[in-house]
Parts: sequence; C-alpha cells; structure tokens
Amino acid sequence: MTFKEEIQRRRTFGIISHPDAGKTTLTEKLLLFGGAIQEAGAVKSNKIKKGATSDFMEIERQRGISVATSVLAFEYDGIKINILDTPGHKDFAEDTFRTLTAVDSVIVVIDVAKGVEEQTEKLVEVCRMRNIPMIVFINKMDREGKDAFDLLDEIEQKLGLKVVPLSFPIGMGYDFKGIYNIWEKNINLFSGDSRRNIEETIKISDLNAPELNKLIGDKAAKTLREEIELVDGIYPEFDKQAYLDGHLQPVFFGSALNNFGVRELLDCFIEIAPKPRPKQSEERLVKPEEDKFTGFVFKIHANMDPNHRDRLAFIKIVSGTFERNKPYLHVRHGKKLKFSSPNAFFAEKKEIVDISYPGDIVGLHDTGNFKIGDTLTEGEAINYKGIPSFSPEHFRYINNADPLKSKQLFKGIDQLMDEGVAQLFTLELNGRKVIGTVGALQYEVIQYRLEHEYGAKCTYENLNVYKACWVDPKNSNTDEYKEFTRVKQRYLAKDKQNQLVFLADSAFSLQMTQQTYPNLKFHFTSEF
Ligand code: G4P
Repeated sequence: MTFKEEIQRRRTFGIISHPDAGKTTLTEKLLLFGGAIQEAGAVKSNKIKKGATSDFMEIERQRGISVATSVLAFEYDGIKINILDTPGHKDFAEDTFRTLTAVDSVIVVIDVAKGVEEQTEKLVEVCRMRNIPMIVFINKMDREGKDAFDLLDEIEQKLGLKVVPLSFPIGMGYDFKGIYNIWEKNINLFSGDSRRNIEETIKISDLNAPELNKLIGDKAAKTLREEIELVDGIYPEFDKQAYLDGHLQPVFFGSALNNFGVRELLDCFIEIAPKPRPKQSEERLVKPEEDKFTGFVFKIHANMDPNHRDRLAFIKIVSGTFERNKPYLHVRHGKKLKFSSPNAFFAEKKEIVDISYPGDIVGLHDTGNFKIGDTLTEGEAINYKGIPSFSPEHFRYINNADPLKSKQLFKGIDQLMDEGVAQLFTLELNGRKVIGTVGALQYEVIQYRLEHEYGAKCTYENLNVYKACWVDPKNSNTDEYKEFTRVKQRYLAKDKQNQLVFLADSAFSLQMTQQTYPNLKFHFTSEF
C-alpha cells in the first residue's frame, strides 16, 4: 500500500458523552463489529464508579484501565480505525480536552431518556469551537425516553448544532421495533422479544410499499411514514462537506447494548468521517501527505509500577511516517531522540511497531523528556499550537511535609504537571506554590503519587481563589500595567510557562480589576 493510501484509510476519532450514556458499550460494539474482540464485556469501563470503594481507589483502578483503553485500534472494511479514549468524569475534563486535539472527528453519545447532559454540553462546545466533525448517536432506544423530534430540537438548542437524522427509530422503549436507515434507505428490525439480534435487513426503497405494513404493522407503518415526511420537511439534506466543516451533524438512533443501530453508524462513519486532517502549527499548516514526520504529545501516562518511573507519551502523527530507531528532533529541547520500542495500539494490546502513519498514535517510553504539547519532527523547528490550559476550579497551597525530601517533591510536582494532572502557579510575592485542579479528586491523586512514586510527602492549605486569569503581556511597558503589577502583587503568580497569572479571589474583585485597568487584557485560557 502506498503512503497516500495508508493515510486515506485512517479514521482517528473520540467518543464523548456524559458518564453512563453508553460510551464504553458503544466502543465495545464497534470493536466487536471490527472483529477486534470476540465477546462483549472485554472493554473495561474506565469510569469512576460511585459507592463500593472510595473515589480515590477508583482512580487508581481507573488509571490501570485507562492505559489499556487509551487507544483502541481495529480494521473494518479495509479502514484502520483508531478510537481515542476520553474520560467522562468531569474532574478529568482536561484530559478529554487534550485528547480532542488529537482526533479528526468525534461521535457524541446521548442517552435518549436523559437528553443533553452537562458534560456533553461542555465537550461539544470545545468540538464546535474547533470545527471538529461530529456524529451524534442517540442511545438506549430500547428504553422509554424523549420523543425523537423533541430530542433533536434539544440537541440543536442546547448544543448549538445543526442536525440531520440519517436514521430514525421505529417506536421506542417497549415498542421499539427497529431502525429506518435514511442514509441507506433500508430497515433493520429486531427479532422476537430478546431484542438481541438483528432479524433481517430489508431494503425499502419506497416507504409507501405495502410490504412495510406487513413488517411492522399498519399503525407503526403509518407513523413512520408521517415521521419521515416530517424529517424531510424539517431537516436539510445531508451535505458531507458541511459535516466535514463542522457545520452539520448527522444523527443516528440505536441501542448499543443490543447491538442495534451500531452497524448503520459504523458503515456511514467509515464513508463520511474525515481521514487525517492538516494541522496548524505556530509556523505553518502541516499536511498529512508531507513526507517528513511531525507529531505532538497529547497525553502522558505514568507507569503503574512505582519501581519504574518511566512514562508513556502518546504522540499523534500529523505528517510523514514515524519509524523505529530513527532520530527525531524534540523541538522544545532542541535535541534529537531515538525510540527503540515505539508502541502501536490494537484493540486492547500494544505492540512494538516499525512504522506508523498519519492519524496513528504511537506510545513512546519516556523518562521525563516530554510534556503535553511537545512537538517532534524530522528536523524542522515547528511547534504545534499548544493545548490551552483553562482556569482551574480549585486552588490549594502545596507544602512540603518532609524537609529531607524537597528535591523529590519538586521533581514529582514537576513531572505530574508535565503529565497534565494539575496546574502549578508560583506566587510572585513569596514563591509559594499553588496547585490548581479541575476537580477536588486530583489533590488526593497528587498526594498519593508523590508519596508512592517519588517518596515525597505533601500537605495542602486552602487558598481562596475564584479564577486564574492569564494577563496579556502586550502592554507590559505601560504605566497601567506597572501599576497593576505593583498594586495586585499578592494576587500574582507565574504558571509553568512563566506567564503572568492573576489569581482573582472573587468575581467582584475580578470585575473591579478589569474596570480599574481597562487597557489590560485578562484571558481565561493560557493561550491567546
Ligand atoms: P459510559 O461508558 O458512557 O459511562 O456508559 P456505559 O457504556 O458504561 O453504559 C452505562 C450503562 O448503560 C450500563 O449499565 C450499560 O449496560 C447501559 N447501556 C448502554 N447502552 C445501553 C442501551 O442501548 N440500552 C440500555 N437499556 N442500556 C444501555 P450499568 O448497569 O451501569 O452497567 P453494567 O453493569 O450493565 O455494565
């Protein structure tokens, strides 16, 4: 196969959803269809289950699982599919945001009964801002849920999407009979009561065919005809380019658990989903077809074995081929590195590979060279646009609880921040270190990992911060800027990139500060 063909046949995407909507189940069914696994139950859910154990032990368990499920790759119909795992738990939203920089498209799973949930809203907003092509899968049609049209409306309104259904449910819950596939113009019906198997796929090119009445009964046939007429009237025709540009989102209905509607989704996905897309670097747009390798780190996973502190850095290949034992430039360090055992991912295993293509993910063993957002190239000094940090929600001072281990503590903090576990701010006034996180859970994780992986002990102290705002250095030589840094000194800190950050203690003080210094710009993400 030629290099171009290898690129053409790759689809790298992420599944996003609110926890419990069915992401794990859908992933598993996709792998089953791809023949990558043989039985259901093989893919472990990486979600944090409430109840049985403390949340914290759950995280450790989950960390083990998420190494295995970080990337799940399989082949279907000659297409190489890479699914990138995204944690659904809101405390790990940053991990998901970072993973979204490495996908070429996304499938959004929505629970038919619950509709659009909070976590889905946030994640879809990020995808929308980046014009990532999205397909929506409405799951659990075997349960009573919202009316299909109401739900489509809700998706448009809450998620700001423009939808076009490419399949439509025939009934719902107890009366769920099957799916009318608008895309292929055929019908799939459930068999018997078990609802476990697809009875048959029947081509219905004409919805008015009397045959339909025989298949699903007069009443259901009439309803379906009316509904499809409505669909035709309300929704635009599917336009692949609009989908690829992120302006139109096809919707599928189904039940992942019952394997229903999944094939329709997958068949359409491999036909319409984008192959690896060009990526913007700070210097230029890089196309996958370029012959020189470039890629970037979007995730770092610490080794689960505390005796081996090496980590796995996940690289998305943007252009060219990544080859084993070939020296590549680590742009931030300006030095060449060689990798003797790059891992590629298949279903749930990883294997050493000699060559990988754009769209693929390779896992590189790392002893502390990488941090999230780093670029690797064959020699060109380009930097992929970083992955922005958002203002954390929680802030605490971190204190050294074992003075003999301060070196270990600093090294540990440094590496955990590189992994993206949390953000570090160093106060301008006194050099004290503040850890900012998205969720409260991360503090326990940091404390535990510092102790078990680095032999360091820490304690935390509360700190009242409402939001971290990055201060635009543009006007840094103006009197206003100087006045601001003098007056607000005790609220100022530097992040890991040495950017100045204003730690506002309340919404009110932030507003007042903005009014007092109208020419200064405050940003809520680290990239502006
Ligand atoms: P997540 O990864 O998005 O968090 O969701 P997951 O797939 O783990 O699914 C959450 C729950 O919803 C699971 O039940 C799963 O079996 C169920 N589910 C998924 N798809 C469907 C569907 O199409 N119909 C119905 N009725 N249920 C579905 P659970 O009881 O929480 O877990 P389990 O013990 O069954 O694994």
